[in-house]
Amino acid sequence: MSRYTFFVRAVVTGGSRGIGRAIVEAFLKENYRVCTCARHQEGLLVLKRELGDPINLFAMPCDVKDRDSVKSFVNHCVSFLGKVDVLVNNAGVLGVREKIEGYPEDVWEEVLRVNLNGMFFVTKYFIPYMERGGFIINMSSGVGKRPAPTWGAYAVSKFGTEGFSLLLAEELRERDIRVYAFNPGATRTTMRAQAYPQEDPTRLKSPEEVARAVLRLIKLRPSSVSLDYEDIL
Ligand SMILES: NC(=O)c1ccc[n+]([C@@H]2O[C@H](COP(=O)([O-])OP(=O)(O)OC[C@H]3O[C@@H](n4cnc5c(N)ncnc54)[C@H](OP(=O)(O)O)[C@@H]3O)[C@@H](O)[C@H]2O)c1
Repeated sequence: MSRYTFFVRAVVTGGSRGIGRAIVEAFLKENYRVCTCARHQEGLLVLKRELGDPINLFAMPCDVKDRDSVKSFVNHCVSFLGKVDVLVNNAGVLGVREKIEGYPEDVWEEVLRVNLNGMFFVTKYFIPYMERGGFIINMSSGVGKRPAPTWGAYAVSKFGTEGFSLLLAEELRERDIRVYAFNPGATRTTMRAQAYPQEDPTRLKSPEEVARAVLRLIKLRPSSVSLDYEDIL
């Protein structure tokens, strides 16, 4: 990260709730300057209001699967931050739990557009503004590492996230930008409740614990690209 600025400049996609929101809050507590987005303005307004409208936070609606929407988000972030030290590709959707033979085609396309194309657009358009020594952290999943029947497009998108991260890590090595595919593991969020409606959420780790792990990851700069939550406890 730059030795010439006094604060870390970060972008977190999907920051209106769940893991993304906890990362935004943790970054702000560390005095990072943070840009975030989500599709729905309402969630972002609630976020800003509940955090007391911090001057170090910029939030705007952006759908990561829409390249024009991402370009506009990038332009606003660059005006707010200048350069970017940390990019967290967190925005994601679950789709449905269904075997491939019954998987709805429209849901398949939507999940891959958001989770894969979205990560690609956001990363591609921010790369020119990434600072030497920076980080790109892509939210992965355990179902992107081993076959998990019925996880369909979500699983395939996370296998893609793992591959994308390995490839990007090689490409950005010469700029000293670290790239990670980070699997947070089961976490108490809306998405997890959608995947496991019968589960008792109080038994799961909180988004705040995941956010602390992300901060540790940034501090530790591990050499492996693919990491699980437990790897950086
Ligand atoms: N929770 C878990 O147990 C778990 C486990 C492994 C991996 N993960 C990964 O961790 C990340 C966060 O998951 P979560 O559980 O916190 O999910 P979540 O509670 O559903 O939150 C998702 C966030 O992403 C935003 N979002 C969704 N689609 C978007 C789009 N097209 N463009 C921009 N923003 C979008 C949502 O806001 P809007 O709806 O307003 O767009 C929301 O802010 C995901 O990548 C997920 O795959 C989660």
